[in-house]
Amino acid sequence: MKKRLGIIVLFTLLFVGFIMNWGYSYRKGLEEGYISISKETPIAIIPSEKGVFERSEYALEYLNMPIDVAHQRTLATYYNNQAYPGAPPSIPHPLVKGERGMGGKACLQCHQNGGFTEQFNAYAPVTPHPEMINCRQCHVAQTEKTLFKETTFFKTLAASVGTNNALPGSPPVIPHQIQMRENCLSCHAGPAAPKEIRVTHPDRINCRQCHVPATNITSSSVFTRKNFTNDQ
Ligand code: HEC
Ligand code: HEC
Ligand code: HEC
Ligand code: HEC
Repeated sequence: MKKRLGIIVLFTLLFVGFIMNWGYSYRKGLEEGYISISKETPIAIIPSEKGVFERSEYALEYLNMPIDVAHQRTLATYYNNQAYPGAPPSIPHPLVKGERGMGGKACLQCHQNGGFTEQFNAYAPVTPHPEMINCRQCHVAQTEKTLFKETTFFKTLAASVGTNNALPGSPPVIPHQIQMRENCLSCHAGPAAPKEIRVTHPDRINCRQCHVPATNITSSSVFTRKNFTNDQ
């Protein structure tokens, strides 16, 4: 009898534990990955401002990291991988079984913090948006199959680099949109950053204190969804 009671108690405890764990992970799953502007927050946080600090904990490491000249990326290869500047780059490497889903953790194991990947003989670029876990909604694998017809589509030119300063030595303006690019250090620091835009001062942290967005960005404007308000 005692033994049976013990087993019942044990299973009840296990069941309660299971419910609690499940409930916790369910609630976590509902949480917003992105900080939205909330009416209740006493200090208004603009998501694009917050992102500037996202990888600043690695700033000193980036500063002291030796440059691996043999494996540097260039802006040319960076652009080559996009349909047009600002478009999601295609996935230039084969995907193993586990990554054939939408992405998420499988992709983040390399793309959250970067690092050298022996297999592809390259440094993994750090994603500026680890919270958007359905990676393959936007990033598609490169394919050799020519199912598509040739078109006359041509890429718009990317913003120029090195000519964005008002005076020699003054901070260049940011020549690109900052929507989805809030996290500056993900593209501008570390071994996977294209060498032309690899920043000499990752340790300055508050990038937008000195760098302001160019006001003549005409190639694209901030995307706002029509027929949509937060109150609906
Ligand atoms: C084993 C580590 C690893 C995994 C897992 C991985 N990647 Fe990569 N990824 C890399 C490396 C390394 C590069 C750089 C390749 C190069 O420069 O030749 C790269 C490049 C990319 C690029 C091109 C970025 C650019 O700026 O051109 C995209 C996009 C990308 N990966 C998306 C993904 C997605 C989506 C997944 C999950 C389905 C994924 N990767 C899984 C290591 C990985
Ligand atoms: C809503 C669409 C969308 C989703 C979802 C998305 N990305 Fe991106 N990603 C983009 C766009 C657009 C760019 C190009 C940014 C630019 O050049 O302005 C980009 C750029 C990148 C880059 C290039 C950064 C660099 O320095 O070269 C990597 C790596 C990357 N994404 C990985 C990922 C991974 C991993 C995931 C999933 C965790 C993911 N992305 C989810 C749209 C998306
Ligand atoms: C998705 C990757 C990515 C992110 C994130 C990003 N940048 Fe850039 N940045 C680029 C690229 C690529 C260029 C080269 C010009 C172009 O293509 O727009 C560039 C150019 C620049 C330049 C001009 C450099 C020069 O020498 O003229 C400045 C300044 C700059 N970025 C600042 C920032 C700041 C500040 C942030 C954060 C708010 C940021 N960037 C976020 C990719 C990125
Ligand atoms: C205290 C002001 C200040 C802060 C903060 C700052 N920068 Fe700069 N940045 C400059 C100046 C000044 C230059 C011009 C450098 C030169 O000509 O020597 C520059 C140049 C650049 C360039 C062109 C390439 C280079 O390194 O010369 C990029 C890209 C850039 N900054 C990105 C960033 C990013 C990303 C951050 C945040 C981590 C940042 N900056 C923070 C002042 C600043």
